[in-house]
Amino acid sequence: MNTMAKLALGLMGQLRPKPAVGDATSRIGLPPPALHGGLPLMDALRQRASNREFASTPLPLPVLSNLLWAAYGINRPVEGGRTAPSALNAQEIDVLLALPTGAYRYEAATHSLQLIAAVDLRRVTGYQDFVDAAPLDLVYVADHGRMGRIPVGQRESYASVAAGAIAQNVYLQCASLGLVTVLRAWIDREALATALGLAPDQPVVLSQTVGYPKAATEGA
Ligand SMILES: Cc1cc2nc3c(=O)[nH]c(=O)nc-3n(C[C@H](O)[C@H](O)[C@H](O)COP(=O)(O)O)c2cc1C
Repeated sequence: MNTMAKLALGLMGQLRPKPAVGDATSRIGLPPPALHGGLPLMDALRQRASNREFASTPLPLPVLSNLLWAAYGINRPVEGGRTAPSALNAQEIDVLLALPTGAYRYEAATHSLQLIAAVDLRRVTGYQDFVDAAPLDLVYVADHGRMGRIPVGQRESYASVAAGAIAQNVYLQCASLGLVTVLRAWIDREALATALGLAPDQPVVLSQTVGYPKAATEGA
């Protein structure tokens, strides 16, 4: 769906998900991530960039596993520490995945995906047209209910910073894995919150599209 159509539907409150492709599995166990190797940090930093052309090729589970662990996995199991920081360790950001087969929440404790809606939510994750067909749109949602020790007036900005740190992890892991990505704020937040069944204290912060580069697999 093109941007103009999304804007028009958004104005009417009609931007909605598509039916899921196939049967949505309620829980997907991810294989263990590869915790060694990858591109050296300086090389990944040299390659970090936003891209907006994606092949529709699905991301295999081992790739999703590495990506999500880098994004916001548990890197210090004893204390439950994560790969990205959060103010007072509130860990308020949920990483949601809009896949063709359904919308899932990344569960770091079990390194698995939990189904939250059996729909193809990708086109609702942003006004730009490429989000509809890319294999994965991540959605970063803050849960202010976990931010009880943080003053109310600071919650929105702290959650934005926390989501930004996760997003940069994704950028760097994409560089390492040969994937492309773009972080996005241009979202119909109301449509997305409705489609995900979010509560008022669970604002959508950002989205981020991930996939293989179009030229590599589709000859564009
Ligand atoms: C908070 C934030 C919001 C952004 N929103 C969008 C967006 O809605 N759509 C988009 O295509 N790019 C978006 N971007 C990506 C920027 O356009 C991109 O980072 C910038 O042009 C610099 O390019 P680079 O990332 O390749 O260095 C966003 C980036 C940030 C940090």
